[in-house]
Amino acid sequence: METSKTFPSVETPDEAYQKTFKNCDELLPTLPQTKGWWSVQLFQYHGFWIHIFGIRGSMLIHDHFKPRSTDIVVATSPKCGTTWLRALVFSISNKASFDFSDHPLPKANPQDLVPFFESIIHKDGSTSFVDGIPSPRLLSTHLPYSLFPTRMTDDTSACRFVYICRDPKDVFVSKWHFANKLRPKELPPLSLEETFDLFCKGVSHYGPFWDHVLGYWKASVESPKKVLFLKYEDVKKEPLGCVRKVAEFLGVPFTPEEENKEIVEQIVKLCGFESMSNQVVNKLDKRYQQRPISNSDFFRKGEVGDWVNHLSPQMAEKLDQITEQKLQDTGFIFH
Ligand code: PPS
Repeated sequence: METSKTFPSVETPDEAYQKTFKNCDELLPTLPQTKGWWSVQLFQYHGFWIHIFGIRGSMLIHDHFKPRSTDIVVATSPKCGTTWLRALVFSISNKASFDFSDHPLPKANPQDLVPFFESIIHKDGSTSFVDGIPSPRLLSTHLPYSLFPTRMTDDTSACRFVYICRDPKDVFVSKWHFANKLRPKELPPLSLEETFDLFCKGVSHYGPFWDHVLGYWKASVESPKKVLFLKYEDVKKEPLGCVRKVAEFLGVPFTPEEENKEIVEQIVKLCGFESMSNQVVNKLDKRYQQRPISNSDFFRKGEVGDWVNHLSPQMAEKLDQITEQKLQDTGFIFH
């Protein structure tokens, strides 16, 4: 098992973790705060609105995570296609290990196959859990690129990021539905208008949305071998081409034999919305899973352009204008 760097310390890992926890506890009261879309409080941390768990996770990664050159991080702003990309990256990386007649994906939600980085870095109160994952480790994150330590983002480290973004109008609608599902029953539902204003102002989980996208976009332009940048709409339109692109990027291109066996087509089908949303494991309710969120909550419509059923033309125009303004001179456009 390769670890690219060691971190000499006289402390035991548990003590080191305690120190990071303490630093986080001391930092939080000094940060600007706001109410999140559901029950959790958000803090403005290095320009992004993040909940305590995410900030602490980020600090633990920063202070303790030992990257390997084989690490693959599936990165997204929430509701951009995390579940889908997790499934695709898992299936592509493991294409030589599993037969489609007995594939793990129909039996597990993608979050069990590609665990949430900010969460598992907490596990066991030390890095022992994350250190114990065999290579290549597949991890998923909502953290902005700028919050990763340079030992992961600079050219001396070969760990890679696969990012997916999505039209902000669809992201907002998806997020609003999701937040209303997660909101405690004793609170009134979130109004579309009120939440829309917050999203436009950048106040949403891991927001501002545009800054998140641009962080990864710039990194993908500067270091195309380190960051692969995808768009949800492109994957919908050209799934076969996108799957091949991801495989190339991950260093596991499809062989002529795999092409003949139509492995690309099978991966696309297995990870598609129809297939995944109908799997029994993805219909499970949180009561049976000991999780705060039901697996079924990660699947709604899975379409491009559903915003048209929720946003007024004025709202759509406003979001498009913000997007145009934010992306000006960056070389990036959504469509
Ligand atoms: S999260 O909470 O950030 O992990 O959510 P995320 O998975 O990023 O986004 C959820 C939206 O993605 C849709 N979805 C899919 N689309 C295409 N293919 C597949 N397999 C797939 N799985 C989930 C899901 O329905 C949410 O989008 P909306 O627009 O709400 O339907």
